[in-house]
Amino acid sequence: MRARFVAFPLVLTLGLGSACGASSGGDTGTGTDGGDDDGALDAAIEARTDELLADMTLEEKLSLKAGSGLGEGVWLTPGISRLGLRGMAMVDGPRGVSKETGNNTAFPVAMARGATWDVDLERRIGAAIGLEARARGASVLLGPCINMLRHPRWGRAQETYGEDVHHLSRFGVAYIEGAQTELMASAKHFVANSIEDTRFDVSVDLDDRTLREIYLPAFRAAVQEAEVASVMTAYNRVDGAYMAEQAELLGILKDEWGFAGFVESDWIWGTKSTVPSALAGLDIEMPDDNFFGEPLREAVDAGEVPVDVIDASVRRVIRAQVAWGLVSEGPADPFEAAPASVLERDEHLALAREAATKSMVLLRNEGALPLAEDIGSVAVVGALADTPNIGDNGSSDVEPSRVITPLAGLRAALPDAVVDHLAADDTLDMAEAADVAAADAVVVVVGLTDEDEGEYIPLINPTGDRDSLLLSDAHQQLIADVAAQNPNTVVVLQGGATIVVDPWHDSVQAIVMAWYAGGEGGHALADLLLGRENFSGHLPVSVPVAEADLVPFDNESLEVTYDYFHGYRALDRDGVTPRYAFGHGLSYTSFDYDDLREGASEDSDTLVFTVDVRNTGAVAGDDVVQLYVGFPQSAAMRNERELRAFERVTLQPDETKSVQLEVSLAELTWWDPDAQAWTRHTGPLRVEVGRSAVDLPLRLDTTMP
Ligand code: BGC
Repeated sequence: MRARFVAFPLVLTLGLGSACGASSGGDTGTGTDGGDDDGALDAAIEARTDELLADMTLEEKLSLKAGSGLGEGVWLTPGISRLGLRGMAMVDGPRGVSKETGNNTAFPVAMARGATWDVDLERRIGAAIGLEARARGASVLLGPCINMLRHPRWGRAQETYGEDVHHLSRFGVAYIEGAQTELMASAKHFVANSIEDTRFDVSVDLDDRTLREIYLPAFRAAVQEAEVASVMTAYNRVDGAYMAEQAELLGILKDEWGFAGFVESDWIWGTKSTVPSALAGLDIEMPDDNFFGEPLREAVDAGEVPVDVIDASVRRVIRAQVAWGLVSEGPADPFEAAPASVLERDEHLALAREAATKSMVLLRNEGALPLAEDIGSVAVVGALADTPNIGDNGSSDVEPSRVITPLAGLRAALPDAVVDHLAADDTLDMAEAADVAAADAVVVVVGLTDEDEGEYIPLINPTGDRDSLLLSDAHQQLIADVAAQNPNTVVVLQGGATIVVDPWHDSVQAIVMAWYAGGEGGHALADLLLGRENFSGHLPVSVPVAEADLVPFDNESLEVTYDYFHGYRALDRDGVTPRYAFGHGLSYTSFDYDDLREGASEDSDTLVFTVDVRNTGAVAGDDVVQLYVGFPQSAAMRNERELRAFERVTLQPDETKSVQLEVSLAELTWWDPDAQAWTRHTGPLRVEVGRSAVDLPLRLDTTMP
C-alpha cells in the first residue's frame, strides 16, 4: 500500500485533525511514505495554510464560505485560481456513489451493513465507495450518516447503522477510516436528525445526559478516532436553535473535541441565517451562497461578524484543501481522480455480495431452510421478488448497471429446478393458489419500497417517514394466502429497518430480513436460502411484538423531547420482551458459550474479557459475540444493559475459539450534568455475553477499576 498523505494519529497529536490517509485503491496513489516525514509534512500543511490565508483578500475569503452549485453530479465549492486553490467537489453518499454521476456499485444500505456487525468489512466498503467517488471527480464523500436511530419509522433509517451507541460509533469510524484512504468524508447529520417529515423545522429537546451519552458519541468518535475531515449540520433544531446556528453544539464539536476540519450545512434549507450561522461556526453554506456571499459581506462590513471569525473559519476550509492536495505547490501529494475502471469493478461487486450475504438476518426457521440442493420446484411469490428494490430514491440513491433481484438470484442458483414467479401482490387467485400448493417450497418476497420510506424532499421525494411498522394489508394477506396453501413458506422481508411481524409470523416456517440488499442482493439471498452460505447477520435494531412497545414516534409536532431510553434499552426498562431482540440472528449451526473470564489488560484504558465459543452444529458458521455491561449499584440512572463490545468469529463444526472482547474504560463513564464532565462509574460492574440483548448465557460480576 502506498501512503499518499499524513498518518492519522500524528495528525491528531498535532491537532491538525483533517489531514488525510493512504490510498488503498492502488490505482492512482502517488506518494510519499509516512514515517519520519509526517511531522514535517504536518508543519508544512499548517505553514502553507497560513501563507494562503495571509495572501487572500476578504472577498476571496468570503467566496470560500459557500458552495458554487452542481457540477457533473458533484457539488462544488469555489477555488481561487490565482492562489492555486482548486476548491472541493462533494458527492453522496452512504450506500455508494450518487446516481447523479452515472452507474456505480450499489452496496446494501448502511442499516444492512450494520447487521453484519463486521467493521472490517465496513472499512473496506468505505474505501470502495471512496475510490469510486474519486473516479467521479469528488474530493469529499457526503457520508457516513451516523444519526442515532431513535425509532425505526424514521424515513431515512436505512442510511444509518442502528439503535445502539457503541455499534453506531464503531460503524461510523470504520466507514470514515475506509473512505478517508481515498478522499475526505463528511459525517452527517450533526445532530439528532431522526424524523423526516418535519426535518426542516422540528426542535429536538435533549437533556444533557441524553445528548452526551446517546446522540453525540458517534460524532465524537468520528472526530476523535477517525479524524473525519468534515461534518454536515442537520436541518433540524436542537433545543430551539437550528443546527447551522447552534453555537453550543458547534462549540462542543470544534473546541471541546478538537475538530479541525470544516462544517458545512445540509443542502438548500440547511442554512437559515447569515450572522447567527457565521458566529456559531458554520464554515460553508451548501450548495449556494444565499445567506453567506453578499449578505455575509454586508454583515462583515457592518461589524456584525468580526474578520477574525471569518479567518478562523476560512482557515479550516483552506487547510482541508492543503492537506488533501487540492492546492498547487502544497506539501501533500496532488489529489487525483481515480480511473473510471474502478467503477463497478469485480472486486466491488464481490464486496457488495459479501456485505449482502453477511447482512441478511434469519429471524425464524422452523425447518424450511435451507432449501434442498436438489429441490424440484420453488414458487417465488410477490411483485418485489422481480423488482430492483435497493432503497430510497433521495440523496442516497445509487444506480448500478444491474440489480440481481431475488427471483434472478434463485433462478441463477437453481438452473435445474422449476422456479416460477407469481407476481401477485395481495390475494392469490385459484390458479396461483394451486401453483403455490404444488411447489416444493415457496419464497414470498414482501416489504417496503421507496414509496413507503425515504428522505423527505419537497416536490421531489415526498415519501418521508413510515406510517406504521407493519407490512401493508395487501402483503399480510398475501402471506396468509400462501401459508394456507403450502407449509414450506419462507418470507423474505425487504426494508430499511424494523418490520413488525407478529400478526403473521407463526403462520410461516421461516422469516429472513433481507433489507435493501444492493445490486448483488439476489445472489446473496439464493446462496443463503440454499445453505451454500450460512446466515450470520444480527439485528442492529429491535423488532418489538407491537409498535406500542417502542418509544413514541412523533413526526407531526415541531417540538419533540428525546429522553435517555429507546430501542432495547427502553424495552429492558419496561420489562417488555421483543419478538426479535437487538442482536438476534439465527444460523444453520449452533454455538455454545463458555468460561467468561476477565483478563489482564495491556493498557490502562481497557478491560479485557475472554469467552470460549464453540460451533456445536454440523456446518461452518460465523457468530457475533456480544458483550453488554450493567452497573447494578450505580447512583446515576443507567440502562439495564448496554452493548460495549462485539466480535465476529468464524468457526468450523466442533471448533472452539477463545474470543477476546475489549471494553474501553472511556465508554464506562457517564456525563455528570452538574460537573459538566465525564465521570467514571465506581462499584460493581456486571458483564454479560451472548448472542443478543436477551440471549446472554454468561455473566461475570466484577468491580470497576
Ligand atoms: C441530505 C443530505 C445530502 C444532501 C446533498 C440533503 O437533502 O439531507 O444527506 O448529503 O442533501 O445531496
